[in-house]
Amino acid sequence: MIGVLVSGSGSNLQALLDAGLPVVAVASSHEDVRALDRAEAAGVPARVFPLADPADRSGRDTAMADWLAGHGVTLVVCAGFMQLLGPAFLGRFPDRVLNVHPALLPAFPGAHAVEDALAAGVSVTGASVHLVDEGIDTGEVIRQEIVPVLPGDTAETLHRRIQVVEHRLLPAVVRELIAA
Ligand code: GAR
Repeated sequence: MIGVLVSGSGSNLQALLDAGLPVVAVASSHEDVRALDRAEAAGVPARVFPLADPADRSGRDTAMADWLAGHGVTLVVCAGFMQLLGPAFLGRFPDRVLNVHPALLPAFPGAHAVEDALAAGVSVTGASVHLVDEGIDTGEVIRQEIVPVLPGDTAETLHRRIQVVEHRLLPAVVRELIAA
């Protein structure tokens, strides 16, 4: 049973739903994001867990882990979830928290991976699916796929092509993990 963490548009959540994977709960860091509409449209329970007090990350993490576990979640997928998770969350789902990232990690971790790759002038970048640890996009990489940078690419055009890959790669990895 999959729980998905989101912060924004939720196109990767949509890819998991469209793949027919057993998404049973969606937790968001923010209100009023498109990902919550997607969860509602799919009839999946969703709830917002704002990090109201950054000093109390472990309180937020515990509440979110309790809620997901209460829905039977055994695998967590961060799909555009833009906040760090601490031990109070990760300890509840050991080696069962995944993230999708728009770069070939360990290159270009963080919240501006596509812009950073363009600024560095690389000729290829890509998409990574990796295990989440307490660092910023530092966990073990499970699968990656290359995306070429084309002449004239902007962050928007490049990110769009990377997301096409993400929407295929993420459901494939999740499907394999839940079958294993
Ligand atoms: C995705 O491209 C994902 O790789 C990226 O945010 C986007 C979310 O899109 N995540 C990160 O940059 C994490 N460091 P979505 O909300 O439409 O799935």
